Parts: sequence; structure tokens; C-alpha cells
Amino acid sequence: MSNAKLIIENQTLELPIISGSENEKAIDITQLRSTTGYITMDPGYGNTGSCVSDITFIDGEKGILQYRGFPIEELTKGTFFTDVAHLLIYGNMDESEEKAEFKREIKKHANIHEDMKRFFDGFPLSAHPMAILSSMVTALSAFNPDSESHEPELIDLNIAKLIAKVKTIAAYSYRKSQGLPFLYPDPDLNYVDNFLHMMFSDSQEEYQQNPVMSEVLNLLLILHADHEQNCSTSTVRMTGSSHANLYATISAGIAALWGPRHGGANQAVIEMLEMIKADGGDYQKYVNLAKDKNSDFRMMGFGHRVYKNYDPRASVIKDAASRVLKAFEIDDPLLEIAQNLERIALEDEYFVERKLYPNVDFYSGIIYRAMGIPTNMFTVMFALGRLPGWLAHWREMILDPSSRINRPRQIYVGETKRSL
Ligand code: SDX
Repeated sequence: MSNAKLIIENQTLELPIISGSENEKAIDITQLRSTTGYITMDPGYGNTGSCVSDITFIDGEKGILQYRGFPIEELTKGTFFTDVAHLLIYGNMDESEEKAEFKREIKKHANIHEDMKRFFDGFPLSAHPMAILSSMVTALSAFNPDSESHEPELIDLNIAKLIAKVKTIAAYSYRKSQGLPFLYPDPDLNYVDNFLHMMFSDSQEEYQQNPVMSEVLNLLLILHADHEQNCSTSTVRMTGSSHANLYATISAGIAALWGPRHGGANQAVIEMLEMIKADGGDYQKYVNLAKDKNSDFRMMGFGHRVYKNYDPRASVIKDAASRVLKAFEIDDPLLEIAQNLERIALEDEYFVERKLYPNVDFYSGIIYRAMGIPTNMFTVMFALGRLPGWLAHWREMILDPSSRINRPRQIYVGETKRSL
């Protein structure tokens, strides 16, 4: 592979070029500072590769998303979320004793320690479920001290425990907010139906499984499962690189996901649509506001750092939203406002010029609403989906003997040395 040539102060530096399996190219600058004293500058890391990875591939220009080489469009047809979780973390979809054990462990560890249930009493009713989720996931480290270990079998055990318990904590944070009793997981149900049971079963009567809800929730979790080096996954890699406890590391990812620029956008989209509805449904006014540099209003659910074409997940979710509303015979006025916003924006030069398209968050909230999930639970649903991706990237990094603590540099522009 040829090198890149860099000329600095009459010195020519040959920098190796790294080429990926999908022909992505990178200039390897690992020796740059030691040989020239220079670093690079890239606020927001839009031009910076932090690692090589064989988990997920995205082509932002072509709108391609593949998990371990499988196109997302194929994985959303007839696969279970736990199969996709196993694919992301361990790299294969084949039926095997190892995968059967993975699924058994997820069922076995679905309960949380009875003492942890008392933690919920300490949260105010108004507590945001993401605050509860991130706190409780960190607290899991107190009940699983072996999560400090990087022994492969303990890595696998704690990965399964997290996938098992996070859905239980998520359901309990909803039950707490509704003043409803916590329900134990049902080992006879699959991951999605077990979650829906813990969310919606009435303590007096068994949860009636709804095949449409189960199918669409399974689809949403798969679509959210990984997205290479996004903000929260990079946070997991950053935190995990210090060899912090796995539960604390995942809690850091949950915190990063919460932001409205990232996973918190799915909640912000519905709040935006409700605001437009309350304002007489004047979506053109809000398209104009989004373009106005003097306004801090942004079209939530639009735009993406990587996708400069339609987010392939948004297309699937948009179709699913219409399917769910029809199946549940719900006429949600927010869907029509969303569709009109999309239509107007995609014809508007401001959005076209900046390649701003609907992203994964634009339509997902419409589905969660139809399922009876409250708006402040939407980002928790994103976290449930993204958990296997975080775990896959953490495991890939931890098992890489060459991985080091992440420690970026800076250029200091403050006061030079002075005396008091
Ligand atoms: C997710 O990285 C991932 O993969 C994330 C994710 C995943 O699966 O992990 O895909 C999930 O986080 C999706 C994104 C959810 N966030 C939102 O929907 C929030 C609204 N969108 C944005 O704030 C924004 O588009 C970002 C944060 C998503 C991307 O921000 P960038 O890449 O830093 O782009 P930018 O802010 O530099 O904007 C470039 C231009 C600017 O205009 P100019 O200064 O060039 O005139 O586009 C404009 C921005 O003002 N712009 C928007 C806009 N998004 C960008 N204008 C109005 N509305 C918007 N939503």
C-alpha cells in the first residue's frame, strides 16, 4: 500500500495508508508527534478514525448500514434481537451451543437483586428514566464485583447479565413512574415479550401478547443495535479504555446517549411535533425557524454527521410507523405533521444543500407512542437497542492486546507563564 507524503518545515514524512475491507482509507499518524512534534486538530472528530473495527460498516453517502457484513435490511426480516445481539458481540449468526448458552444466560439473569428494587424508592416520581437507568446500571457493579475481571468467561457472563438486566431496570423505571408494582421476568417469554410483559402486564391478569407490538419492537431494537463510532459508543470505548468496570462503562454510554443531539433526539422529535400541533400545525413556520440562523430551533430528527443521504433505518421505521398505526387503528396527527415536515424539508434548498435527511429518531417516537410507551421512555428504548453494540465495541477493544488508554492531545491557547 502506498504512503502519504507530508512536508513540514522542509521535512518530508512518509505516513502509511490504512485501507479497510470496504476500501475506506486512513492516514496512519501514530508516529506524527514523535517525529515532527506536530499533532492534528479535528474538533468533533469528523475526520478522525479512533480504531479499526470489524463490527459495523456505514457508508454515509450511499446510505449503507451492515452488521458484521449483513445489510440492515436483511437483518430486519425474520431475525430476533438476541440473534442480532449475538452477531454483533461474537460475530456470527449460526445456531450453536455457544449461542444457545448466551440466550440461556440472558433468561437466567433477568432478575435484579431484591435490594436493588429499594433503590427505586429513592427516586422522585418525576425522575427521568435515563437518570434511573444510568444510576442503576452503575449500581449493578456493586452486586457483580467479578465485572472487574477480563477473564473471557467472566466477560461473557457480565455481557449476558447486562443484556438481561437492563431491560428489567428499564421496565421497572416505567412501572415506578406509573405507581405500578414491579413484575418478575417470565423465563418462558423471549426477550421482547418478556420486556413487554414487565412493562404492561396487569398484576391481576397476564399480559396478552400482541404480535404486532412484539414484531415492531423487535425491529426497532435491531435497527438501533449498533452504529460504529457514534458519540455514545465512542464514550464506551473512551471509558472502557481506562479499564473502568464494565457496568460503569455502559452507564457512561447511557449518559452520552441521553443528549438531544444524539439518542435524546427521539424524545425531542415528539416534543417538537406536539409543539407544532399545539401551534395550529403550521409546519412551514418551523421549517423556516430551522433555517433561521437567529433562531436556536433545530429540526429534531433531521441531519446526521455520517449519513449525507437518507438514513436507511429511517426508511424502515417510517414504513413500520404507518403499519403500526393502521394495525392499532390509531389516527395520530403527529404522523401527518412529521410527513409534511419531511416533504417540505426535502424540497427546501437549505436542507438539500446541507444534505439534511430524516434520521433514525424522526419516526421512532410515533411507534413508541402507539405502543403506549411515554415520551420520556423513548431514549431508554434507544439504549435497550444500542446495548449490544456498546458491548460489542467494548469487548473488541478489551480483547485487543494493543489497545491503550484513550488520551487525545490539545493545542493550548491560554495565558503564557506569568507571576501572581
Ligand atoms: C443519532 O452518530 C451516529 O451514528 C448517531 C446515531 C446513532 O445511531 O448512534 O445515528 C443516532 O444521534 C442521530 C442524530 C439525532 N440528532 C438529531 O436529530 C438532532 C438534530 N440534528 C442535529 O443537531 C445535527 O444534525 C447532528 C447533531 C445530528 C449532526 O450535527 P453535525 O454533523 O455537527 O452538523 P452541524 O451541526 O455542523 O450542521 C451542519 C449544518 C449547519 O448549518 P451551517 O452552519 O452549515 O449553515 O447543518 C445545519 C447546521 O445549522 N443543521 C441543521 C440541523 N442539523 C444540522 N439545521 C436545522 N435542523 C437540523 N436538525
